[in-house]
Amino acid sequence: MCGIRLRPDGGLSTISGYICVKYNPMRIGFIGVGRISAAIVQGLCTSGVAGLEIFLSPRNTETSKTLAAKFAPVTRLESNQAVLDSSCIVIIAVRPPLAAEVLSALHFREDHTVVSLVALLKYARLQRMVRPASVVCRAIPLPTVVHHNCPLPMYGASEEVKRLFRHLGEPLEVDDEDQLHALWTLTGLITPYYELLSRLSEWTAAHGVMPEMAGAYVARLFQSISFLAEQSKPVDFSALAHHAATPGGINEQAGKEIAAAGAHDVWSTAADRVLQRFH
Ligand SMILES: NC(=O)c1ccc[n+]([C@@H]2O[C@H](COP(=O)([O-])OP(=O)(O)OC[C@H]3O[C@@H](n4cnc5c(N)ncnc54)[C@H](OP(=O)(O)O)[C@@H]3O)[C@@H](O)[C@H]2O)c1
Repeated sequence: MCGIRLRPDGGLSTISGYICVKYNPMRIGFIGVGRISAAIVQGLCTSGVAGLEIFLSPRNTETSKTLAAKFAPVTRLESNQAVLDSSCIVIIAVRPPLAAEVLSALHFREDHTVVSLVALLKYARLQRMVRPASVVCRAIPLPTVVHHNCPLPMYGASEEVKRLFRHLGEPLEVDDEDQLHALWTLTGLITPYYELLSRLSEWTAAHGVMPEMAGAYVARLFQSISFLAEQSKPVDFSALAHHAATPGGINEQAGKEIAAAGAHDVWSTAADRVLQRFH
């Protein structure tokens, strides 16, 4: 145990950094502080996690400085390695093309828990890159973590990580990476989904509804029918579509027209092509 001492907060310090102990796991480091890390930091800092300490890598300078100024548990450190040396759970959130270069420059510890948010970095490669860290997982958070209500698909997550992520939404464990990639593909449809809602809002405003009301109604309408769908277990969208399509009614009319134009096929073809990027 030479060179290791017990700290007042229950952790152990070494010359090269911090050794994590079971009862003090809430030292969380972020490598890459962009849009998704900023949302997670905000979600965690507003969720009442006990004993939370967050360490940010220096990039992006503006975002990391803003978060450190805004939230007491957040510290911006001078290097990526300093983040690892201070943290127990390390969240990797750089863009896919940079991940290999960034990770290969770092020295992980065996007691690190690593959570990768990097879309195209597969588990086996990730595991090799963060050796000797033994607890490694992949997760798909979305910016909705800010409101603590995000569905959170995860692969390989430990109980500790699931406990942490419950502060951000609902962890959904998958058994293999193929399932993770299918769910990840859906998150690539957020832009076309919002664009569809944007088109419908504009259409509504063009027909005399105040733009604020048009936008708010479109958001609320689709949120409320999604909420209804979520109440049935298992969710059965097809039954709901059929139920809403009164013979001779407006839903039947629009449903037939949109399906006949191939709109649904366009979405599944786009999803097929996004999925190919994971393979
Ligand atoms: N956005 C989402 O909703 C979302 C959801 C799930 C997963 N993800 C995954 O999360 C990762 C990050 O996504 P993002 O949307 O947050 O991207 P982003 O906004 O571009 O953030 C990435 C950050 O990494 C920083 N960075 C670049 N080089 C670095 C280095 N060498 N060391 C440390 N940091 C470095 C960048 O800083 P500079 O600005 O200074 O270059 C940037 O702020 C991606 O792999 C993505 O697949 C994102």
